[in-house]
Amino acid sequence: ARLVVLVSGSGTNLQALLDATADPEYGAVVVAVGADRDGTVGLDRAAKAGLPTFVRRVGDFADRADWDLALAEAISEHRPDLVVCAGFMKILGTGTLARFGGRLINTHPALLPSFPGAHGVRDALAYGAKVTGCTVHLVDHGVDTGPIIAQRAVEIHQDDTEETLHERIKTVERTALVEVVGRMAREGYRIEGRKVLVP
Ligand code: GRF
Repeated sequence: ARLVVLVSGSGTNLQALLDATADPEYGAVVVAVGADRDGTVGLDRAAKAGLPTFVRRVGDFADRADWDLALAEAISEHRPDLVVCAGFMKILGTGTLARFGGRLINTHPALLPSFPGAHGVRDALAYGAKVTGCTVHLVDHGVDTGPIIAQRAVEIHQDDTEETLHERIKTVERTALVEVVGRMAREGYRIEGRKVLVP
C-alpha cells in the first residue's frame, strides 16, 4: 500500500513508519510526506529518507477551503492508498475528506472521546486522570471524532509533566500506529458505522 504521511512537528511517528516500511513484508511504503509548515524536523526526516515532500501553509491561501483543496490536490498527486496524519496539527476540511474519507488515519495522544483537540496530554494531566493513552482513528468532519481503530493505555505518574507524559505516550503511540497501519495495509479493513474492523 502507498502511504502519504502528514506532519507538523518532530515526526517521531513518521520515523517509526519509515523504519517499519524498510521491511518488504510490512506491506506499505511511504511515498511522500506533507506538512502545513516549512522547516520541521519531520520534513528533514522525509528528506533524509529521500522522499518527496510538500508544504501547504494556510497563510498562503485566501481561506481554509482553498488551503484544504490545495492540500488534497498535493496529496492525490502521490496516489495514496492511505493518508496518515502523524502529528499533523490542522483540521482537514471537506476537500480532503471528500477525496480521502475512509482512508484518512489520525493518531491522537489521549483515549478518545476523552481529551480531544490540540492539548490532549495537558488536559488529561490537568484533569487528574490516572490513565490516558493514544487513539488511532479514522478522520471525519469533526475534531478527533472519527471511528476508532486502535487504542493503548498509558499510566499517568504523579510527578509527570506534560513533556514526560507525552514522551511516554509517544513511545506507545508509534508502536500502535505502525502495527495497525501495517495490518490495514496488508489485510484491508471494513467500516461498519462507528466500528473499524481490521482482521
Ligand atoms: C503525537 O503525539 C501526535 O499524536 C500529537 O502530537 C505528537 C506529534 O509527534 N498530535 P511527532 O510529530 O510524530 O513526533
